[in-house]
Amino acid sequence: MPYVVPRRVSEGAVTEISNLNRYREVCAAAANDPNGFWLAQSRERIQWRKEPSIGLMGNFHDVLENPLSWFGDGRLNITESCLDRHLITDPQKTAILWEGDEPGDQRKISYAELHREVCKAANALHELGIRKGERVIIYMGMVPEAAMAMLACARIGAIHSVVFGGFSAEALRDRIRDCGAELIITQDEGLRGGKKIPLKATADEACQGAGTVKKMLVFRRSGADVAWNEPRDIWWHEALQNDTHQAVELEAEHPLFILYTSGSTGRPKGLVHTCGGYITYASYTHATVFDLRPDDVYACVADVGWITGHTYIVYGPLANGATTVMFESIPTYPDAGRYWDMVERHKITIFYTAPTAIRALAAQGGEYVTRYDRSSLRVLGTVGEPINPEAWEWYYKVVGEGRCNIVDTWWQTETGGIAISPIAPATPTEPGSATLPLPGILPSLREADGKIIRGPGQGFLCIDHPWPGQARTVWGDHERFVSTYFGHIPGLYFTGDGCRRNEHGYYWITGRVDDVLNVSGHRMGTAEFESALATVNTVAEAAVVGYPHPVKGQGVYAYIVAQSGEEVDEADLHAACREQIGSHARIDKVQPVPGLPKTRSGKVMRRILRKIAEGKGDELGDVSTLADPSVVEAIRRGFKV
Ligand code: WT7
Repeated sequence: MPYVVPRRVSEGAVTEISNLNRYREVCAAAANDPNGFWLAQSRERIQWRKEPSIGLMGNFHDVLENPLSWFGDGRLNITESCLDRHLITDPQKTAILWEGDEPGDQRKISYAELHREVCKAANALHELGIRKGERVIIYMGMVPEAAMAMLACARIGAIHSVVFGGFSAEALRDRIRDCGAELIITQDEGLRGGKKIPLKATADEACQGAGTVKKMLVFRRSGADVAWNEPRDIWWHEALQNDTHQAVELEAEHPLFILYTSGSTGRPKGLVHTCGGYITYASYTHATVFDLRPDDVYACVADVGWITGHTYIVYGPLANGATTVMFESIPTYPDAGRYWDMVERHKITIFYTAPTAIRALAAQGGEYVTRYDRSSLRVLGTVGEPINPEAWEWYYKVVGEGRCNIVDTWWQTETGGIAISPIAPATPTEPGSATLPLPGILPSLREADGKIIRGPGQGFLCIDHPWPGQARTVWGDHERFVSTYFGHIPGLYFTGDGCRRNEHGYYWITGRVDDVLNVSGHRMGTAEFESALATVNTVAEAAVVGYPHPVKGQGVYAYIVAQSGEEVDEADLHAACREQIGSHARIDKVQPVPGLPKTRSGKVMRRILRKIAEGKGDELGDVSTLADPSVVEAIRRGFKV
C-alpha cells in the first residue's frame, strides 16, 4: 500500500475485531451466513421481549412485492435497550452530556434521569392522544429534550420524524403533510452561535394549511415570548408529569422513524427505518467502528435532524450504554477553538465530525487547536462527504497529534449506519479512503449496464446483499423506494455514489453520480433548488448544478433565464431558496444566461452545465445534438469564476 498510517497498539480494545486478520475472518463468517451473523449480533446486543428466530426475509430482486424484513418474529421496544437495562448496570452513568451554545453551559443527564424524563414524555404523548403508528414531527435544536422526544415516541410506538431546525416553514409543512403528523414537538427558540432561531414561530407558520396537526408540545429553551395558540399548544414542562411508564411491545419491523432526505428528482422522500434491524445495526457499528470502551466520552457533533444524529448521537450510543455528547452550538463560536476546548473540558475520547468542518477549521490555523489539551482523544471520525487527503492529514497530525485512529465512515440516510469504514483498532488507513466494508456489507462496483467490475476499477457503488440497518421503504410510496434503489441494476441496492477501488480492495468514494448535491455535508437535490427558483416571478427557467468548493465540498451554481423584458434581482433568488428550503440552502454563484442547453426533445443537458460550472468549459465534447448550440457559447462566455 502506498501509505499506511501506523496505528497505536489497541490495548484495552473491546471490539471483537482488533486486527486485520480477525476482520477478514469475521467478514467471511458474515458473508457465508448473514442470518447467523446478524441474529447473533441482535440477540447479544439488544434486549428483546421475544428473541427473533428469523433473520432476513426477502431479497433485492423482489422488494416491490416482498418488502425486506429482518428478525420478523422478534418483539421488543428499543427504549428498553437504550434505557431500562442500563438502570440495572449503571444508573448514575452520564447518558447525555450536553454542551449549550455558550461555552461551559452544560447538563449531565444520567441514565436514571433520562429514563425518568422519557417515561414522563411517553405518558404526556399518550395523554395528548398519540397512539402506536401515529406520526410525530420533532422540530428542535440540539437540546437533550430532542433525544427525549425521539425516545418517548419510540416508547409508545409512535413514529417520529425529526426535521432539521434550519428548514423553512414551507419545507416543514411539506413534511407534516407527507407523513400526516398529528403532533409537533418544538421549542420556543433555538440558540446557535449566539443567534436565536424562531422554531416555534416557524412551526406555527408551517401548521397553517397543514390540517393534520392537532397539538404542539413546546419546550422552553430561551424563555422568549412566543405566540400561544390555545388549546393546541402545551408546554413541555407542564405536560411532563407521571414518570412511570411501561414500554409498548412492538414487532421488530414496526417503523421507528421517518427521515426525509433529498433525491435526484421530485420532493424529498421519507425513508422509513424499523425497530429491530436498525437498533441492531446502530449498536453494532457504533461499538465496532469506534472501538467503544466503557469509560469513553463520545462526541458526535452532528445535528439530530440528520441520520448521523439519529444513529450516532442518540440510538447507537444509548443502546451501547455510552456517554454521548450533545452539542448545541457551532464549531466557530465563540471562535475556531470551540471543539478542542470541549475536548479538553469533557475529556472526550472519540470525536466524530464532517470534513467540511475540518477544512473550515484548518483554514483558521493550528493555534486554535494546540491551545487545548487533546490527550484524551483516541479515535477521530469523519462522515458526510469525501475527505481530501490534506484535511485528513491535518485532522490526523494537528488534532490527533499523530496518535489517534482516523475513521472515514461512508454511509447514507438509507443505509441506517456506517457501511464502509476503517474499524479503529484494526484497519490500516489511507488518507481519503473509506477503506473496507464492515462485516455483512457486500459492496460491488458496476458499469452503467450492471456489468460487474472485479478487482481495481471505478464505477457505480452498489451493495449486493441486504443488511439489518437499511431503510425498508419510502413513506407512502413503496414504488418510489423500489425504483430509486433497485430499479437501476436489478437485484442490487444502488447507492447513487461513484467509487474507485484499488488493488488492495480499498474504496474511495468519488461523490454522487445523480443530481444530488452535497454542500457542507448537507444533502440537497438540484430539483429542490430549481423549483424554489421557479417561484421567483422574474425567472423563466433555472438550472442548478454543483461545482467543487474548497471548504464546502460542493458549491451551488445557478443558471438563470429571466422572463423576457425582466431583470432578476439576486436577492430574490436567495430569499426564495431560504423560504422554500431553509437557511442552509444558499446559492454560491448565479449566472444569468439567455437560455439553457437542451436536446431537441427539450431535456436540459446538465452534463454541459456541470462542466462549465467546474471551469471545464473547453471539455464539452460534442454539442451538435442540441436544439440551439449557440446557447452553449453564450453560457461559456458568461462563466463566473
Ligand atoms: C451521501 C449520503 C452518512 C450520514 C451523513 C450523510 C456522501 C457520506 C461519506 C464519506 C464520501 C460520503 C455520499 C452519500 N457521503 N459519507 N465518508 N465519504 N462520501 O448522509 O445525507 O444521506 O448523504 O453522503 O455521497 O451518498 P446523507
